[in-house]
Amino acid sequence: MTANLTKQTHFDAIIIGAGACGLMCAVQAGFLGKSVLILEKNDRAGAKILISGGGRCNYTNLHTSYKQFLSQNEHFCRSALAQWTVEDSISFFEAYGIEGKEKTLGQLFPVSDKARDVVNVFTSLCTDFGQEIWYNTEVVKLEQQDGGFSISYKQYDTEENIFAAKVVVASGGLPIQKLGATDLGMRIARSFGMKVTATSPALVPLTITGKDQPWYEKLSGNSIFSRVWNDRASFEENILFTHWGLSGPAILQISSYWKPGEHIFIDLLPGQNIADLIAAERVQNGKKMLLAYLSGLFTRKFAEALSDYLPAEKNLASLTNAELDALEMLIHEFKVKPAGTKGYDKAEVMTGGVDTNELSSKTLESKKVQGLFFGGECVDVTGWLGGYNFQWAWASGFVIAQNL
Ligand code: FDA
Repeated sequence: MTANLTKQTHFDAIIIGAGACGLMCAVQAGFLGKSVLILEKNDRAGAKILISGGGRCNYTNLHTSYKQFLSQNEHFCRSALAQWTVEDSISFFEAYGIEGKEKTLGQLFPVSDKARDVVNVFTSLCTDFGQEIWYNTEVVKLEQQDGGFSISYKQYDTEENIFAAKVVVASGGLPIQKLGATDLGMRIARSFGMKVTATSPALVPLTITGKDQPWYEKLSGNSIFSRVWNDRASFEENILFTHWGLSGPAILQISSYWKPGEHIFIDLLPGQNIADLIAAERVQNGKKMLLAYLSGLFTRKFAEALSDYLPAEKNLASLTNAELDALEMLIHEFKVKPAGTKGYDKAEVMTGGVDTNELSSKTLESKKVQGLFFGGECVDVTGWLGGYNFQWAWASGFVIAQNL
C-alpha cells in the first residue's frame, strides 16, 4: 500500500468512476497538464458507454438545449452545456477518428456503429497523458482530512485509504447494478450535509398488471408511431407493446415525467383525425367494415385488439355518432394507468440526485466543501432519450477539469 500512498501525491485530483463523465474529466485535465487518478469499481472503463444505444452509443444530440433536461432547477445545466457544446463533442470525437452520423431526431452515433470506439478514445488518451485508472477499486467513503480528502476504497478484498487534494464524484446513477451502479454519489453528498433530491428510475419501460395485462400481452411485439403525453410533457415516437406492458422510445421518454398512480395518454394516430378519415371513407366506401378499415390504418392484429372496445363488425356507414365519439377517444386519447416501471434494472437513467442548489453551476464544485466536485448522472440533471445524457456527462466532465 505504500506504493499507492506515494503515487497519490503526484495526482492533482482523484476521480471516482471511469464512466462518461469521469473519463472526459480525466482527458480534459490531461490537456491542461493536470494529473488524475480514476478509481473504478468495474474491471473496465465505460461499461455503460459500451452498451449504450444498443452497443452503438448515441453520443450526443444536435438539438441539445437545457430544455431537454429534467431537474428541480431546469436552468442549472445551462452553464456547463454552454462551456462544452454539442459542436465541441462532435469535433472532439472527430479529432480522434470518430465521425458522427445522425440517425433520427438529431441523435448522433459513430459511423462505425461501435460504442467501443468511443471508449477507446478515452482510454488511449488517458494512457497518452499518463492518467491512471485503478480498476476493481470500489470507493466506500470520503472524509475531509488535512485540507483535502481521505478516500476509503476496497480493492481485491483489502480496504485502504488514499489522500486526494481534490475529488471528482463521477460515480453515476442507480440504474443497472450489474454494470457497476452504486449510490455512492448521493451517499457522499449526504455525508457532507448536502441535500439530495428524490431519485427514481427514468427512461424506463412501464408495466401493466391486472385485468388489462392480457390485452397488452396479445399485442406483444407490435410497434406503433404515437404521441404519448401527460400534463407535463409530450413525445411523438414509437411505442412498443410487450407481454408485461409498454416500452419503445415514446414510453421511455414519458416515463421520466410519470409518477406512480398517474395516467398517461396515447394518440395512436398523431397528426390525423379518425373522425375526418372515416367521414371521407364513408362517402366512397360506406359498406366497409370498421375492422377492415382499422386494419388498413394499423396492423390487422392491432385492429383486432381495438375491436375489444369497438363495434368492429359494423360497417362505416352505420356507425352512430356516439360510436364515432368513442372511436375518437380510443384512437386519439387512449388512456393508460401503468402499474409501475421495470425499475432500476431496466432504466437508462435516474431522475433526481445531488441537489443542484448545493453546487456552483459554473464549476460544479460543492458550495459547502471546497475541492469536492460532482458531475454526470449523480447530479439532479436528467436528459431525454437521444444522446442528451452523454452530452451532459461530457459537458460536466469538461467543466470540472477546468476547475481542478
Ligand atoms: P456512468 O454510469 O457512465 O459511470 C459511473 C462509473 O462509476 C461506472 O463505471 C461505475 O462502475 C463507477 N462507480 C460507481 N460506484 C462506484 C464506486 N463506489 N467506486 C468506484 N467506482 C464506482 N445516454 C446517452 O446519451 N445515449 C445513449 O445511447 C444511452 N444509452 C444507454 C443505454 C443503457 C442501457 C443505459 C443503462 C444508459 C444509457 N444512456 C445513454 C445513459 C448514459 O449511459 C448515462 O447517462 C451516462 O453513462 C452517465 O455518465 P456518468 O459518468 O455519470 O455515469
